[in-house]
Amino acid sequence: MAAERDAAALVPDTAGDGTVRLADYRPPAWLVDRVRLDVDLAPRATRVQATVDFRLNPDHAGPDLPPLVLDGRRLTLVEAAVDGRDVTADPGLALQRERLVLDAAALPGPAFTWTCTTEIDPESNTELEGLYLSGGIFCTQCEAEGFRKITYYPDRPDVMAPFTVRLTAPAGGSPVLLSNGNPGASGTTPDGRAFAEWDDPHPKPAYLFALVAGDLVAHRDRFRTAEGREVDLAVWVRPGDQDKCGYAMDALKRSMVWDERAYGRVYDLDVFNIVAVSDFNMGAMENKGLNIFNSKYVLASPETATDRDYELIEGIVAHEYFHNWTGNRITCRDWFQLCLKEGLTVYRDQRFSEDERSPAVGRIDQVKALRARQFPEDGGPLAHPVRPEAYKEINNFYTATIYEKGAEVIRMLAALVGEDGYRKALDLYFERHDGQACTIEQFRACFEDALGTDLAAFARWWYQAGTPRLTVREAWDAEAGQLTIRLAQETPATPGQPEKAPLVLPVRYGLLGTDGADLLAEGEALYVLDGPEGEIVHRDLSARPVLSINRGFSAPVILHHEAPDGARLFLLAHDSDPFNRWEAGRAIALDLAVRMATGQIETEAEAVPKPWIRALAGILDDARLAPPYQALMLEIPGNDEVAARLYADGHCADPDRIHDALRTMRAALGAGLAEPLAGLTASLADSGPYDPAAEPAGRRALRQRCLALRLAAGDAAAAETARAMAESADNMTERLGALTAMVHLGVEGAAAALAAFRADWAGDELVMDKWFSVQATAPLSDAADRAAALTEDPAFTWQRPNRFRAVVAAFAMANPVGFHAASGAGYRFVADWIIRLDAANPQTAARVTGCFESWRRYDDARGALMQAEMRRIAAAPGLSRNTSEIAERLLA
Ligand code: TRP
Ligand code: ZN
Repeated sequence: MAAERDAAALVPDTAGDGTVRLADYRPPAWLVDRVRLDVDLAPRATRVQATVDFRLNPDHAGPDLPPLVLDGRRLTLVEAAVDGRDVTADPGLALQRERLVLDAAALPGPAFTWTCTTEIDPESNTELEGLYLSGGIFCTQCEAEGFRKITYYPDRPDVMAPFTVRLTAPAGGSPVLLSNGNPGASGTTPDGRAFAEWDDPHPKPAYLFALVAGDLVAHRDRFRTAEGREVDLAVWVRPGDQDKCGYAMDALKRSMVWDERAYGRVYDLDVFNIVAVSDFNMGAMENKGLNIFNSKYVLASPETATDRDYELIEGIVAHEYFHNWTGNRITCRDWFQLCLKEGLTVYRDQRFSEDERSPAVGRIDQVKALRARQFPEDGGPLAHPVRPEAYKEINNFYTATIYEKGAEVIRMLAALVGEDGYRKALDLYFERHDGQACTIEQFRACFEDALGTDLAAFARWWYQAGTPRLTVREAWDAEAGQLTIRLAQETPATPGQPEKAPLVLPVRYGLLGTDGADLLAEGEALYVLDGPEGEIVHRDLSARPVLSINRGFSAPVILHHEAPDGARLFLLAHDSDPFNRWEAGRAIALDLAVRMATGQIETEAEAVPKPWIRALAGILDDARLAPPYQALMLEIPGNDEVAARLYADGHCADPDRIHDALRTMRAALGAGLAEPLAGLTASLADSGPYDPAAEPAGRRALRQRCLALRLAAGDAAAAETARAMAESADNMTERLGALTAMVHLGVEGAAAALAAFRADWAGDELVMDKWFSVQATAPLSDAADRAAALTEDPAFTWQRPNRFRAVVAAFAMANPVGFHAASGAGYRFVADWIIRLDAANPQTAARVTGCFESWRRYDDARGALMQAEMRRIAAAPGLSRNTSEIAERLLA
């Protein structure tokens, strides 16, 4: 056996600045027919023996055999052979920094079997990518490029193969051993160790490989598919957590039913396993037949999880399950096509949640998230197209643009071709591309071929970055009874894309008559704006109608609508489109907040004018409206949304002034609506036991909102209710809601409530994350010092991403008053922690660095302080490629 060699020690890095370009894509020279992995697990020295059948790609040009080039990172090569011939010491074998190259001269011909033994050290893997340990459980994360940390392999999504896996447990325990596909033999090895074999017949790219081994227990169920297959379902968790899996399991079964009904997609293995681990860089991962989840998105009980947690569990379980077809059976050709699986799968999980809960509330929540996260990205230094053309670190491209804007693009397509057309196109996509690794162009061609349309202009949505601004002007000719609606679009330049073409905007709209009813024949119409300007004309109108434009947020744009006086209040009272009805109220609130924050208005009476109060009172009184929708109507925009609007209007944002304005508005709303709010707080109180279903959750949401507004107004009775709720509510939704309101508003008793909460939950890491977050997001003048103090707490285990995010990311992203403290203390605190985390976990560190993306919005002093911290991060010794790419783009 040859001496072990450390890959990292040998040949220097490849030339260039490390940018990967779509234009450089070349098909793989070698394809894989089969992979067999034999994994001998041990915390410090796991041995992986890979047996890979390679075959020359028939499309490969040229008479000569190409070399075999395999990716590999942080691997110790033990031995390698080709068709059984040891090549470990062959002069044709070169170990470069992140790859292994075997000269064509060392290859026997156009097909051969490669065997390779590597050794890895999961215990020291703090990056949580590849094989690592989480709380004593072995687990993997291979997307996007983690498989290369397990063995040498063509780690690219267009190389797909069936895998068989044999896992052998370390001596001593009898852990559960899981991998992809269907279970095979299991038992005990001659030396007394547990082993298990798994077979995944569906060809897959390496990024979908997974294994899990550890002391786990299952919550089991069964599902019978439409094709009659009996599937064993299991949610695997640490002993003690088995009673918190019911909701995730229920969500899984509902997802399976939904995908059969909505898309005709049926599950294709005999088992489906979900595993919860507590150290995870993101939400969850769709590994074939073995989804691995951040425990935060699996575990739920009424006492420990909020309504929001339940909702997220449902959405993420569905998302990962839906990937089985959109992602796994049909995958991406290369990582530039990431939106092919992510945008489509987000759209699918959104529609699922809308069906399971409420389309109106769902759509409003989607748009709020899009505006809060994707619009700033698309309008700042990190802007990139939904289908990017270059990257340095692919992990930095799991962004709101690729996921959320990617989903909006699919939603627009569905709106343009209609539900039936959409289903026809998707049917063709599954039929034509099953088992393939595809591009956006192939997806688009399915629409064009199935429906006979041309999507060349529409396709710009994938290629062009930036949020379009849509300006809408109305002209009313009373004599002729004619309304002319003029639309104009423009997309501002983004980094690397100075020139923008017009996009295809599907604009749904309606016209309301003086009685508030819809005037148009079908209630509304769809206008497609496909040039820089357009015009809609309606004649023979007896009176000027009120225009409700871009209903359902059908085009994801920044809308400037110069509406006549009173139009927004009218829409708030009457619009039949629930999204635009909410939008009208939001626009009123945003305008008021902007005017307050810029000193144009000052008093409470001006901040919350009587007609608005009356309209809101009407909405609260309207029994036809669902409580969660009413709750959204009572919400005013957040600090960041106001800051973004101020910046767009050419002002500097001052987070302190915005905070004061919003506080005044909330207090005035609480006072102005005192009676209905008190009435609802009483009438919405839950009687029976806690039920996480959408309907009771919606009532709780409204009740919480009412209570928070009353607290903002200084209502003493509300403070009493909150104290009691924080102390003794039987569910986490109410306990945490009351605690948050008390801590954030400085209500008397807040400190005692925090202490009691901690005493109750010190042993529950997910609940303790909430305890940290409540405090990290409190908008207090000394917030940065308080956040720093939280990081001194012995329970601040910063290596766990959930805990790090609960404090540092929560402070950076959800505490504008603290983060933007004029002293710069907030920026410094966050930068210090990013630098520290980067050395252990670059993926999560890079993600948090994005909090500096809107530095241009603020005054010069704050802008300079933010820039200085970004420079300090960029200059940190040994900084990862992940974080340096983000820091450099932020500063460019
Ligand atoms: N593909 C996963 C999803 O959308 C997300 C993902 C990508 C991920 N890279 C990851 C999850 C790294 C965890 C770690 O569901
Ligand atoms: Zn996904």
